[in-house]
Amino acid sequence: MSDNTLGAYNIADLREMARRRLPKGIFEFIDRGNEDDIALRNNRAALDRIKLKPRTLVDVSKRSQEITLFGKRQPMPIVIGPTGTTGQVWYRGEIALARAAAAAGIPFTLATGSTTALEQVIEQGGGGRMWFQLYIWPERSVAYEMVERVRKAGFEALVVTIDSPVSPNREFNLRNGFTLPFKFTPRSTTDVLMHPRWLFGVIARYLLTTGMPRYENYPGEIKSNMTAQPMGRSMPKNDSLTWDDLRAVRKIWPRTLIAKGILDARDAVLAADCGADGVVLSNHGGILVDSAIAPIDVLEETVDAVGKRIPVFIDSGYRRGSDIIKALALGAKAVFIGRPTLYGTAAAGQVGAARAITILRDEIDRVLALIGCPDVAALNREYVVPPRPH
Ligand SMILES: Cc1cc2nc3c(=O)[nH]c(=O)nc-3n(C[C@H](O)[C@H](O)[C@H](O)COP(=O)(O)O)c2cc1C
Repeated sequence: MSDNTLGAYNIADLREMARRRLPKGIFEFIDRGNEDDIALRNNRAALDRIKLKPRTLVDVSKRSQEITLFGKRQPMPIVIGPTGTTGQVWYRGEIALARAAAAAGIPFTLATGSTTALEQVIEQGGGGRMWFQLYIWPERSVAYEMVERVRKAGFEALVVTIDSPVSPNREFNLRNGFTLPFKFTPRSTTDVLMHPRWLFGVIARYLLTTGMPRYENYPGEIKSNMTAQPMGRSMPKNDSLTWDDLRAVRKIWPRTLIAKGILDARDAVLAADCGADGVVLSNHGGILVDSAIAPIDVLEETVDAVGKRIPVFIDSGYRRGSDIIKALALGAKAVFIGRPTLYGTAAAGQVGAARAITILRDEIDRVLALIGCPDVAALNREYVVPPRPH
C-alpha cells in the first residue's frame, strides 16, 4: 500500500515542508503576520487558552462531522478560505487546491488576487462548491463588472472582504523584495537559486507556459497599477468603503453573500442588516492589525447577536481538529482554513492540500470520540471552558 501521508502527521509538518521548498521571501509572505507578529501569536494563544470538558461513557462508535451549509450537506465543518498567493507556491496552485477541496466535498474560495483566471479555476477545479472572494475597488463600477463575471462563471457564493481599507504593514515583504510580477533583485535571486524545487517546479513552468504569474482576475486598468508592487503592499486602496457598498453588492449578487473580516458583533449585525447571508469573524490570519483581538474572543457575543439570523463562520489560527471543535462548540457554523491548506499546496500540490484536509478531518474525528460527542451537531458551550474575561 502506498503511503499518502507524505511523512506529514500534523499541519506543523506540512508547514515545515513548505518552508524548505519555498524561497524565504514567499514563505514569509504566507507564514507571517504583520509588524511584530503579535496578532499571529495571539490567535494561537486565544485558542490554546480554551479547554475542552470531555464526557465519558457515551457511545461514540458512530461519529459524524457532517454539517449543512446553505442547504447542502458536506462531510466536514471547514471551508477553504481565500489566499491570494496560492498560485505562487505551486504551479496553478489554485486549481490544485480547488481539486483537493472538491474531492473532500468542501467549498473552495478563490481569491480576487489569484494568478489563475477565475473561469479556468471553475473549469479545471474538480467540479466542487466554488466560492469567490471579492475586494471592492474604489472604482465601484469595476467591482460590479467583476461581480457579473463571477456570476456568469457560475460561482455559488460571493465572499466580500471588508477588513482591508489599506495595505497592511508587512515590513518583511519589503525587506525580502518579492514583487508580482517577480523582479529579480540580488537578494531574491539568491533566495530563488537556493530553492531549486520551487524554481523549476513553479516559476520555470510558468515561464514555459503563460509567462510570469500576474493577477489574472484584475481588470486591465487595475492590473496595470498593481504590477511590481512588493507583495503585501499591493492591495488596492479602498478606504472609502462603507456599509452602503455591501448593500450595493447585495443588490446585484443574487446568490449567497458572505461578509468576511468582522471582529465586532455590532458589525455582524450591520452585515446581516445589509442582507449578508453569513459573516466570517476574522483578523485575516493576523495579517492586518497587529493588536487586533483574536476572532475566537468575540465568537460567543457575535453568535448571541446574529446567530439566529445567519451563520457565523470564523478563521485565523486554526491548526488542529480540536481548535475547530472549540469554535463549533462556541457557536460557529464552520471554520475557514487559510494557511494549513496553503502549506499543504506548497509542499505537494493537490496531494499536499488533500493531506492537510485529511489531517484536520482525522483530528476532529478523534477528538469527538475522546470528548464523548458523537456528532458535531451536538457540540455546545458545555463542552468548553472559555477563558474568564479579563
Ligand atoms: C498568504 C495569504 C494570503 C491571503 N489572501 C487573502 C485574500 O486575497 N483575500 C482575503 O479575503 N483573505 C486573504 N487571506 C486571509 C485568509 O483568507 C484567512 O482569513 C486567514 O488566512 C485565516 O487564518 P489562517 O491562515 O491562520 O487559517 C490571506 C491569508 C494568507 C495567509
